[in-house]
Amino acid sequence: MNKLIIFLSTIFAIMLLSVSCKKNIDTVQNPKPDNSTPFVPEQTLKEKAPFPIGASIDPTHLKTNLRYKNVLIKEFNSITPENMMKMNMIQPAPNRFDYTKADELVNFAIQDKKRIHGHALIWHESLPTWVQNFQGDSLAWENLFKTHIQTVVGYYKGKLAGWDVVNEAIGNDGGTRNDNTNQGSIWRRKLGADYVARAFLYARQADPDVLLFYNDYGQESNPKKLQAIISLVQDLKRRNIPIDGLGLQMHIDINTSEAGINYAIQESVKTGLKIHISEIDIALNPSNSTLEKPTAEMLERQRQKYLMVVRAYKNLVPKAQQYGITQWNVGDADSWIRSYLKRNDFPLIFDVNYDRKPSYYGVLEGFK
Ligand code: XIL
Repeated sequence: MNKLIIFLSTIFAIMLLSVSCKKNIDTVQNPKPDNSTPFVPEQTLKEKAPFPIGASIDPTHLKTNLRYKNVLIKEFNSITPENMMKMNMIQPAPNRFDYTKADELVNFAIQDKKRIHGHALIWHESLPTWVQNFQGDSLAWENLFKTHIQTVVGYYKGKLAGWDVVNEAIGNDGGTRNDNTNQGSIWRRKLGADYVARAFLYARQADPDVLLFYNDYGQESNPKKLQAIISLVQDLKRRNIPIDGLGLQMHIDINTSEAGINYAIQESVKTGLKIHISEIDIALNPSNSTLEKPTAEMLERQRQKYLMVVRAYKNLVPKAQQYGITQWNVGDADSWIRSYLKRNDFPLIFDVNYDRKPSYYGVLEGFK
């Protein structure tokens, strides 16, 4: 009898112990939800943006850099090929059109349901050497010009939302770039000033639906150039030349005047065209001083400037005219300011590791 009692009480003790152990394990593995800190799903730019938010991209990064690709997929809903639709890439030899690289970007964007903005049909830079050396009368030049526009626009018909038809036709002096300096445009010299209007007409003939943009830089810091651009597009509109939008590249820096930015946006809005902030980057080291990494103060000023631009765009551009904002590439290491302008800078909203910078949060705040 005693033995039985000892046996039963041992079993009971073991049962009690195992229940209490399980309880402990449960509390550790499945802690009670803490209602004081509600779960907030991660927010990305494209989920929060009240208008399309884009980045310019290139196929090499897209193929070789997984972080670049992931940030692009997660954060942006619009893309602009940074270089692959420029004339030197797409028509490297007379009448030899090569869409291979551009199509890598277009196919990626279609698959990922991103909007595509074409850039740029007619520009005095990024020309193939055969165009720079081309010898021909005005008819031959006109034919070359028209064929390029209509072949490329026709090829992408139905796939693109918009095209930068003419890029940077106005000089920094407000003039028309009719000279042989590096400020000059071969198109202006060979085709006459009204080539801009004809470029839009040819593009419209090749695709009745794609939005057609005039794209330029410096409007925010050069009022004379801003007025020349506005006069140019107003003249096109008056003559019923098909133009739908105006691109303000917005390559600025942390010192660029707010008043200048607001004024450029306001004056552009008055044209009634869609407004695209088409290539934004905000340099924080415009004087190119030795700088291993940005100071906290620089990053904060950059955050404020991104916030200011995005807020101005949201508040000053009526909804129907908002085509969106595009950043010029994805992470600081990819910026043309480093590779092309050879300046040491950190101008974007993702750092060299594709982590979000203070400027990223400035953009998010600007959406509100
Ligand atoms: C730049 C690209 O970012 C560089 O990679 C390239 O070497 C030169 O062109 N204005 C424009 C863009 O409209 O096409 C330019 O892009 C930057 C200035």
